[in-house]
Amino acid sequence: MIAGALLAVAAYCPAKVRAQSGSPVMTVQAGKVVSTVEPTMWGVFFEDINMGADGGLYAEMVKNRSFEFYQPLMGWEVRQSPVKEGAVLVQNRQEKSAANPRFIRITREANTQTLGMVNEGFRGMGIKKGLRYDFSVMYRQHKPGLKLRLELVSAAGKIIGNSALDLKETGDGWHKANVSFNATDSTMRGKLAVWFDGAGSVDLDMISLFPSDTWKGRPGGMRADMVQLLADMKPGFIRFPGGCIVEGHDLSVRYQWKKTIGPIEDRHLIVNRWNTEFAHRPTPDYYQTFGLGFFEYFQMAEDIGAAPLPILNCGMACQFNTAEVVPLDQLDPYIQDALDLIEFANGDVATKWGGIRASMGHPAPFNLTMMGVGNENWGPQYIERLKLFRDAIKAKYPDFKIIASAGTNPNGERFDYLDKELRAMKADIIDEHYYSPPSWFLDNAGRYDNYDRNASKIFAGEYAAQSDRVVSIHNRNILKTAIAEAAFMTGLERNAGVVVMASYAPLFAHTDGWQWTPDLIWVNNLQSYGTPDYYVQKMFSTNKGTHVVPILRNGNTIKGQDSLYASAVIDKPAKTLLLKVVNASSVAVKQKIALEGVSVAVSNAEVATLKSPSLQDMNSFNAPQLVAPVTSAVKLKGKQLDVELPPNSFSVYRVTIK
Ligand code: AHR
Repeated sequence: MIAGALLAVAAYCPAKVRAQSGSPVMTVQAGKVVSTVEPTMWGVFFEDINMGADGGLYAEMVKNRSFEFYQPLMGWEVRQSPVKEGAVLVQNRQEKSAANPRFIRITREANTQTLGMVNEGFRGMGIKKGLRYDFSVMYRQHKPGLKLRLELVSAAGKIIGNSALDLKETGDGWHKANVSFNATDSTMRGKLAVWFDGAGSVDLDMISLFPSDTWKGRPGGMRADMVQLLADMKPGFIRFPGGCIVEGHDLSVRYQWKKTIGPIEDRHLIVNRWNTEFAHRPTPDYYQTFGLGFFEYFQMAEDIGAAPLPILNCGMACQFNTAEVVPLDQLDPYIQDALDLIEFANGDVATKWGGIRASMGHPAPFNLTMMGVGNENWGPQYIERLKLFRDAIKAKYPDFKIIASAGTNPNGERFDYLDKELRAMKADIIDEHYYSPPSWFLDNAGRYDNYDRNASKIFAGEYAAQSDRVVSIHNRNILKTAIAEAAFMTGLERNAGVVVMASYAPLFAHTDGWQWTPDLIWVNNLQSYGTPDYYVQKMFSTNKGTHVVPILRNGNTIKGQDSLYASAVIDKPAKTLLLKVVNASSVAVKQKIALEGVSVAVSNAEVATLKSPSLQDMNSFNAPQLVAPVTSAVKLKGKQLDVELPPNSFSVYRVTIK
């Protein structure tokens, strides 16, 4: 306790400054281009974990809108008085509609009965005063006479919006009805009540409520604040849909892209694999409705200028769960899914899958150039399946890039086996993952310095510094993890000749519905904020540059000596030299940075610095930018920068060059 208190005091002592005299100068050799930087270099990893899609990015507010959860009325509360047996009846038309078998039949015989259903949303519904909400429902009437009365109800029980809906059509077919209305107040955890007035009987399905302020105002779309945080990063790619969710707990619940496109009511909902994964974080109401499916994914990537990077199941379920594999002689449908996805993304509208894309509103291709086959799969069973995928894909699309899994860890027996096999196969790109303590990231800034430039390229496909340990609920997104990642990323950037892509994981977490920490962006029903780790990612991706140049200290690459880390790139079209410097020590460092081989255009450089008094500092809904970069000007002395690197800081210097 006492030791802890002393440490805390030490963290807030005025910073010491390491003496400048004798401190080696950093030299940027701006005339010596080492490699190009791929436009894809810094991207994002999306997975429906932590309520990332349903209850998160996908803006649907009604939970279990189609009654397909394991418990058909989960999320719904039936209100009736007096109780009439069969007034709300769950029906199953499995034989006629395998994708969406259930619906409910509402029967109200007497005008005197109170009958309604209240939906609790995803940990409540975030409702904003003055905003328009769009309600819709699919219905079929046998005994017309019922009318729907809608109420938005605040956490305190106040009605903060209401409307009514007449159901006009009758007969055997299903119809859609909708109505829009404004909220009169805000609430973080509201509910939707659907009351039934009149007398009659009606079948209901796909009961839905969306806010009107979705990304680009698209009906049934994405949460705009969350997409905006991604757009602000200007990511080079979006990896999708994961992650372990690709593999599934078993093969029956693997991710199948074909079930995520087309009319929303025909998308086959499945249980989310994170529903039961962690006994310490059970989420029994976590399902995948696929409202954010592959079409919406491609569209979002296009919207924000990111290359799509889908990851497909390779015929293996998660090896931490059932570890099922598809027999090799039955792998064809899986391979066909991969080929068809390429056609769905890129094919002419006259092709089967290109035509489906066009029918969904996007005749132009999405320009898919790469895909991952398998996520964190390992062993000979993976290699033999991967080879069959590779042969089929390359036969049809010789230039298409295939990303292969290097398993769950960046070292050890499994990694060594895969690395050897994949290199022997001349794999295009190898997907390495690291979930490790901050010290690992600091120690591994030189990991790629000696990787062969003329062999397989590397995708740092999932990584995050763990402040406690992997899958611990105590992991936090703090300055310490962000600085360690920034240090490591200077190593990725320095080695952009071999590392062609990188993405932090996971991306989103809902504060009331997460399973895994740490995460890049935290949200609740109304707000979202970026962590210090988010700002590190953003500082790299918005200062990507086009060409790597050396930055040296005493003639050596800077990868941890005196706790300093650095990399340098030039953005040729923008005529800017970009220097990234991490000081991972607890003292400020006075540093001279000499710029060689370049003419400086203006005498002021700009610096953005991420720092905070304590390594434990983190952002929150109340202080979303407590740890965020602050930009200032630095005067150049001819071709030299004299700077002070604050303790535990990450700085990006931007110098305009001729
Ligand atoms: O990012 C969370 C999980 O970590 C991913 O689903 C999986 O690929 C990795 O093990």
